[in-house]
Amino acid sequence: MALLLLLLRLEGPRTSHRKTLPITWFTDGTLNACYNCVAIIYEADEPGEHQYITYGQLLNETCRVANVLRGMGVKKGDTVTIYLPMTWQAVVAFLACARIGAIHSAVFAGFSAESLRDRILDCSSRVLITADEGRRGGRSVATKVIADQALKECGDANPVEHVLLLRRTSKVDESTGEVLFPHFTPGRDVWWHEATKKVPAWCDCEEVSSEGGLFILYTSGSTGKPKGILHTTAGYLLGALLSTNLPCMADVGWITGHTYIIYGPLALGTTTTVFESTPVYPNPGRYWDTVSKHGLTQFYSSPTAVRLLRKLGHQHVTPHDLSSLRVLGSVGEPINPEAWNWYNEHVGKGECAIVDTFWQTETGSIIVTPLPGAIETKPGSATVPFWGIETEVVDGVSGEALEGPNVEGVLCIKKPWPSIARTIWGDHQRYIDTYLKPYPGYYFTGDGAARDEHGYIWIKGRVDDVINVSGHRMSTAEVESALLLHNGVAETAVIGTPDELTGQAVNAFVTMKPEFTFEPSSEPALAKELVLQVRKIIGPFAAPKKVYIVADLPKTRSGKIIRRILRKIVAGEGDQLGDLSTVAEPEVVEIIKKKVAESA
Ligand code: WTA
Repeated sequence: MALLLLLLRLEGPRTSHRKTLPITWFTDGTLNACYNCVAIIYEADEPGEHQYITYGQLLNETCRVANVLRGMGVKKGDTVTIYLPMTWQAVVAFLACARIGAIHSAVFAGFSAESLRDRILDCSSRVLITADEGRRGGRSVATKVIADQALKECGDANPVEHVLLLRRTSKVDESTGEVLFPHFTPGRDVWWHEATKKVPAWCDCEEVSSEGGLFILYTSGSTGKPKGILHTTAGYLLGALLSTNLPCMADVGWITGHTYIIYGPLALGTTTTVFESTPVYPNPGRYWDTVSKHGLTQFYSSPTAVRLLRKLGHQHVTPHDLSSLRVLGSVGEPINPEAWNWYNEHVGKGECAIVDTFWQTETGSIIVTPLPGAIETKPGSATVPFWGIETEVVDGVSGEALEGPNVEGVLCIKKPWPSIARTIWGDHQRYIDTYLKPYPGYYFTGDGAARDEHGYIWIKGRVDDVINVSGHRMSTAEVESALLLHNGVAETAVIGTPDELTGQAVNAFVTMKPEFTFEPSSEPALAKELVLQVRKIIGPFAAPKKVYIVADLPKTRSGKIIRRILRKIVAGEGDQLGDLSTVAEPEVVEIIKKKVAESA
């Protein structure tokens, strides 16, 4: 400012004879005010249906929704469940909760009614924010029908008094102004667009203490019951902000969307992209069309998406102008060098920084990552710890830190960092037992890792019973519980097996109850029914790739199922099972080998 005044003074006397003062700043620079101020690019499912939302619009809409929530009696510290598809209003819903100090609990829109029910009950939300329908890949998702079912299934314990309903697809009757949507419950449901019209576009921010809760996000652990990970305001926001250089293609229903679509970019004052569609709709060039259309500079996606697009061929990438891109990120699963190289060569044209970022719902922000352009990368390694993070590769058995290069063990973190989760909602003991107890003195990630001669970290995948399918995290126990809800199922063992496209795939072994009789010819139909069972109970992303119906499962003498054997058989290593002396009935192993071979 001082410099500008000085310039004005210097210019002043010489031009004083002119009629108007020729005040010009930044001559020859170009800009567009709207462009600079846009906060969200909303790329809707159908190409061409995008919207730009400015900071002003975002603020107004957020304030209005915050006022609506206040009107529903939501107070600081209350929880609000958000079950929304990938629309820009999902961002508004998050921020509206934050504005009034309410804790949001977002449930991924791909979750089933049962999963939504459990999450609503666990955090006792009095308000649910949802939409009439979602759109993805040209198809509709019956979001509200699922939400209604979830509330019905809560039964007498249903805590939800108000449902705020976003209109995404429903038509409006021109003459009456009424929305044509059959699943509306008067008294409980209110339309977002109607309720927000009735309240002011300004709402004061609630003061929240640094350690006040910001959000809960449920994630899977080793047992069947999902954990409500609680993040607090100041530390989380700092972590998100510090580590953001990657606006991203994730879903707001997962942690990546929370941190790198919403809080990180917006806290930094950058533009973020909300992408509703899929990488292959209406064709496999959709990501690249979106990048060139909006001039995106940073792109963050999953190894599964990269592997899929690589398989479909780079001819879908080549026609698009990707010169705006500077950083290409990857998250959610280990990225194999083939996918890494393809991403680098065909998308980044060898000129973008490739950043493989390792982190978790619990860590709140990136933990191991190269700094774009500054840290030399190696395809397949997430490289080195981020600022302030002290990782340690620990011996899984002794719990001792492994010194020196070329070691492999479990990945732990030595000291807390700002955005570490503070607790598991309603179960602090479980938080201690899961993360702090296994290796005393450390935070335990649950992942295996190696450290090479340059100190680079190579993530080896989960060492617990968590399966990672396309970056979607679930526990074997969750899938097993879903299968056991089928009235014919006696026992089940679920394993994760390597998969070329999705990283890991869910495979289920099932035994049926003796009284549940079925013809051998109807076995495929029964297997299909069991797949549907999992889709219904958890959600489509958890559906087993294969269900094997078997007469018995390999067990120890004490009756424990030996999953290691099942994993090896499915991986085609049935002839390298090693010592089977702990198996109670070794002939069961032979029968299972035969079964797997037959259905290959
Ligand atoms: C896995 C997602 C290898 C890991 C942000 C972790 C990764 C789990 C990477 C957390 C990566 C995430 N390389 N593995 N770059 N990023 N993972 O909570 O197993 O959905 O424990 O958080 O994903 O999954 P979550």
